[in-house]
Amino acid sequence: MLQDAFGRSFEYLRLSITEVCNFSCTYCLPDGYRKKPGPGFMRLDEIARLACGFADLGTWKIRITGGEPSVRKDFVQVIETLAATPGVRRLATTTNGYRLNKNAKTWREAGLQAINVSVDSFRDDVFHKVTGHDRLAEVLRGIEACLEADYDAVKINAVLLKGINDQDLDLFLDYVKHRPVSMRFIELMRTGDNADYFGRYHVSASVVSEALERAGWVRKTRAAGAGPAVEYVHGDYVGSIGLIAPYAKDFCKSCNRLRVSALGKLHLCLFTEFGMDLRPLLQADDQLDELKAFLGKSLQSKAVSHFLDDGITGGNHRFADIGG
Ligand code: 5AD
Ligand code: SF4
Repeated sequence: MLQDAFGRSFEYLRLSITEVCNFSCTYCLPDGYRKKPGPGFMRLDEIARLACGFADLGTWKIRITGGEPSVRKDFVQVIETLAATPGVRRLATTTNGYRLNKNAKTWREAGLQAINVSVDSFRDDVFHKVTGHDRLAEVLRGIEACLEADYDAVKINAVLLKGINDQDLDLFLDYVKHRPVSMRFIELMRTGDNADYFGRYHVSASVVSEALERAGWVRKTRAAGAGPAVEYVHGDYVGSIGLIAPYAKDFCKSCNRLRVSALGKLHLCLFTEFGMDLRPLLQADDQLDELKAFLGKSLQSKAVSHFLDDGITGGNHRFADIGG
C-alpha cells in the first residue's frame, strides 16, 4: 500500500504519455506545442513496468493523460498494456476529443473504461477561441460515440473562465439533462506560464455551487476513495455535476493521486518543484522491487498541501507537461 506521512493512501495514478497536444487552449498551450530537445517520452515497455510497480503497491485506477494522449501512434497498445496489468481495475483517459467519434469504440474494445472529454464551451465561437480549433461539433459527436460504445463513465471537463463560460451554466446543464454524462467544472489553476491569464480569468467555483443550489441541485456526500470533486445531483437530470475547487479549504485532505510525467518523473503533487526520475528503474523487468521501494520511500516526502494561495506554482509551467 502506498501511504504518505499524513495517512493518505494513493490508489490512483495519473500517467502522462506525451506532452504533445494538437490543441492550443488559452490557459495551457496558448502558442501550441513546441518540441523541446531532450529525451523522448516513455516507451511502451517502460510504461508497462511502471504500471506493474504501481499496481503491485495497490494502485487500481490509472488515468492516461497528456498533452493529448491520443496523438501517440501506439495509444491503442498503451490502453491494452495498462488494461492487462494485474490489479488495474479501472482505466480512464482525458482527451480533447480530437477524432473521438472515430476512435471511441476502438479504445473501449482495447480496455478503456472511462473517459473525460474537455469541452470548455457549448458555443462554437467560444470553443474556437479557447482551444484554437473549430471542432465543437466533432467533439460532441465523439461524446455521443462514447455513450454508444457503452463506457462505464463519460465526463466532460470545463475550466471555468470569467466572462468566457461562467455565464453559460444553462448550456452545460441542458447537455446533461437527458444524457448520463457528468459535467465537471474545474477552477482555473495558476501555473508558471499563465499568471496574467489567471489574474484576468480566474473565477471561484462558488459561482457555480451557488447557482446549482438555487436551482435545486443537491450535494452528494463524498464516497470513500472519491477524488476532489464535489458532486451534485438533481431529480430532473440524468447526468450530474462535479465541482473541482483547488483553492477551497482542505482540498488536499482527500488527495488520493500521484502523477508520473511523460518523461517518467514522479510528481507527488501538481505543484511540486521537481519530479523524481523513475526512468532508470524502468529499463528491465528485474528492477520491479527497486522501483517499488523507491516509490514507497519517495512518498514520505509528500507535503500536506499545495501552497497555491501563496502564489506558489512550483515547477508546474503548464498542465500539458505533467497532465492535469
Ligand atoms: N487550470 C485548470 N485546469 C487545467 N487544465 C489544463 N490547464 C489547466 C489549468 N491551468 C485541465 C483542463 C483540461 C485538462 C486537459 O487539463 O481540465 O480539460
Ligand atoms: Fe491540449 Fe489539454 Fe492543454 Fe488544451 S488543456 S492545450 S487540450 S493539453
